[in-house]
Amino acid sequence: TKTQRLAGKKVLITAGPTHEAIDPVRFIGNHSTGKMGFALAERFASQGATVEVVSGPSTLSSTHAAIHVTKVHSAEEMLEACEAKFDNVDIAVFAAAVADYRPDTPAQEKIKKSNNTLTLHLVKNPDIAATLGKRKKKQFTVGFALETTNEIAYAKEKLHKKNFNLIVLNSLKDQGAGFAHDTNKITILDHDGSSTFDLKSKQEVANDIVDVVCKKMGL
Ligand code: PMT
Repeated sequence: TKTQRLAGKKVLITAGPTHEAIDPVRFIGNHSTGKMGFALAERFASQGATVEVVSGPSTLSSTHAAIHVTKVHSAEEMLEACEAKFDNVDIAVFAAAVADYRPDTPAQEKIKKSNNTLTLHLVKNPDIAATLGKRKKKQFTVGFALETTNEIAYAKEKLHKKNFNLIVLNSLKDQGAGFAHDTNKITILDHDGSSTFDLKSKQEVANDIVDVVCKKMGL
C-alpha cells in the first residue's frame, strides 16, 4: 500500500543551521530552524522508512519511534555524524543550512571589547553534500538550494556539482518561503526537468518531496 512504500528503507536527513564558534560565548549562524528537515523526517517515517536526522542547533525533536536524532553544532561535527551513517542509507536529504565558512581558530577565552574594529579570519568548511556525493553508490540523494538571485541556474549548478539526483529550490524572493516560516514554496529540479509547487505548509511540502523521490526511485 502507499503508506508502506518505504518499508525497509533507511533515510539520512540533515536539518537546521550550524553554529561556528568565534569564542566560548559567540558563534556564526543562520536563520534555519530545522522545520523543513524535521517535516521530511516525519513524512519519510510515516511511509515506513527508518530515519536518521543529523541536526544542528534547533529546538525541534521527534517522538516517532522510527526517527533517531543526532544533535551537532558545527559543520565539521555534522559531516562526521553523517559520514558514520551514509554508507548504510538508501536515501539522503540535505536540508541543513550549513555555514560555508568558520572562524579558523576559535578564541579560548571570551574576546574582550577593545578596538573600534575587529577582524575575524574565516576558513572554508567542508561541504557535507558534496563530500558524500563523491562517495555515493546506491544512495538516492536530494539537495536543497537556497537562493536570492539567478535561482534556477544556481540550483542546476549545485545539482551537478554535488551529484544530487534531485534538488529542491526555495527562493527568499518568494513570500513565505525558506527560513523559519511554517510554509515553503519549492521547485524540484532533476537532470530531465523541473516542477514548481504552490506555497504550502512545510508538512505538505515534505509530502510532495517524498512523493517525487518515491516516483523517481520507482517505489
Ligand atoms: O530550517 P528551516 O527554518 O525550516 O528552513 C529550511 C531551509 C531554508 C534551511 C531549507 O529549506 C533549505 O533550503 N536548506 C538548504 C540551505 C542551504 O544552505 O542551501 P545552499 O544552497 O547553501 O546549499 C546547497 C546544498 O548543499 C544544501 O543541500 C545544503 O544542505 C548542502 N551543503 C551546503 C554547504 C555545506 N558546507 N554543506 C552542505 O551539505
